[in-house]
Amino acid sequence: MNPCDAMPPVSLPQASTAPRWLQMLHYTLKPLDYMDQGAKQDRDIFNAPVIGNHENVLFVSHPKGIQQIFSSDSVKAPPNSLLQPVVGDHSIFSLEGDRHKRERRLLMPPFHREQIPQYGRLIIELTENAMDGLAPGDLFLVRSLMQTISLDVILKVVFGLSDGPRFERLRTLIVEFTDCLQKILVSAALFFPTLRVDWGPRSPWGYFQHVRRQISELLLTEIRERRAQDTSTKTDILSLLIAARDEAGQPMDDAELHDELLTMLLAGHETTASAISWALYWVHQDPQVYKNLIDELDRLGSSPDPVDVTKLPYLTAVCNETLRLYPIASLTVPREVTAPMTLLGYSLEPGTRLYGAIYLTHHRPELYPDSRSFKPERFLERQFSSYEFLPFGGGIRRCIGEVLAQFEMKLVLTTMLSNYQFEWADTTPEVPKRRGVTLAPGNGVKMKFKGKRV
Ligand code: HEM
Repeated sequence: MNPCDAMPPVSLPQASTAPRWLQMLHYTLKPLDYMDQGAKQDRDIFNAPVIGNHENVLFVSHPKGIQQIFSSDSVKAPPNSLLQPVVGDHSIFSLEGDRHKRERRLLMPPFHREQIPQYGRLIIELTENAMDGLAPGDLFLVRSLMQTISLDVILKVVFGLSDGPRFERLRTLIVEFTDCLQKILVSAALFFPTLRVDWGPRSPWGYFQHVRRQISELLLTEIRERRAQDTSTKTDILSLLIAARDEAGQPMDDAELHDELLTMLLAGHETTASAISWALYWVHQDPQVYKNLIDELDRLGSSPDPVDVTKLPYLTAVCNETLRLYPIASLTVPREVTAPMTLLGYSLEPGTRLYGAIYLTHHRPELYPDSRSFKPERFLERQFSSYEFLPFGGGIRRCIGEVLAQFEMKLVLTTMLSNYQFEWADTTPEVPKRRGVTLAPGNGVKMKFKGKRV
């Protein structure tokens, strides 16, 4: 017998001794503060019973623990009950096991590294169009402008929509949809299912459902019209998904396409908009960072090839440092223990929920000294493993939009910084604030537009 088997089980550190409801409230209102508090009890792993109806919920930040979560046969990736009511039952977020694998195989090809550069010119054009609306001296919220750009990118690159009434209607509804998710009562309803009561369009959850139904109608009309067209020469992601076939030769049906479009809208536009906003904020906080970046961009010339832009080392370091300091998703999506296992010295029972605590991993002092400071140089001085730097998660649920998001971040930043000048127009430092299940700069990054760069 292994002598360890005879030892009593070691109890897990707790994030807090407060009652569970109070911890849930703390986590819902101030997620990073709650996580920092938990890390003070134990930096590697702690129990945080704050998501869904589960008592055994662990936040794990040690890279070895994260690696085990992503690769162990005793851990599965269950459906995401938090996002399911938003994105639907057929979404990749709501599937598990073989159905999830099938869906990933169908969805991944259009997001591969070789596919994305073809969208480069379009992303640059959409950025320039958004900038055309500004006059020197204008004050603007970077986050709103970035949301316009990233929404247009999703609608054109992913949906293949061209300008017109449906494009405009969908755009308006999606802004309402994502704004709804920001409202505390709707956000709270994702965490507390009992709050999901539809009292009609005047109630928070009812209005959210009302907007969702209108978006659904437009998406289904678009899908049906597109099926009737010859899409063989089209390069947008919806056309590629309509043409995709699984191993049994089966296409995706309307309900699947609908839920996946909604998923990409939700997962793909707010996240990227927040990431670019943070990047512009940090770059304008430190004149040396701004200078290093501008020098690198200027060396590329006036209309650089989008692929060359993606290879720039300092720009890449700026984007990585942005996604490290305040990761847009502070946690991975959930995983679940399926067979007894040991994680970082603790015995775990089946049913235990595990989350990779991305934010806490990104602030481990042995990996990122002075972790609250924005220092792109870290990424030039050393390489981090995919369990030490994981803004897009990992394993079988790793973000499928990672390449598109990084490409868009780099192209939008390059277009804005190479051609225009801004200054930060607010003296209050930005702090992260919850937007649905992600985190965004709380004040939206207020800037003053100074005009074109000469
Ligand atoms: C800066 C932008 C983005 C960030 C930080 C981000 C982050 C993440 C994270 C952390 C996960 C969970 C991974 C895990 O638990 O292991 C995820 C999953 C996912 N992301 Fe992203 N994401 C971004 C942009 C996008 C874009 C542009 C799209 C698509 C258009 C997208 C689509 C998805 C999908 C479909 C999943 C679920 C994958 C699955 O369940 O198999 N994301 N993302």
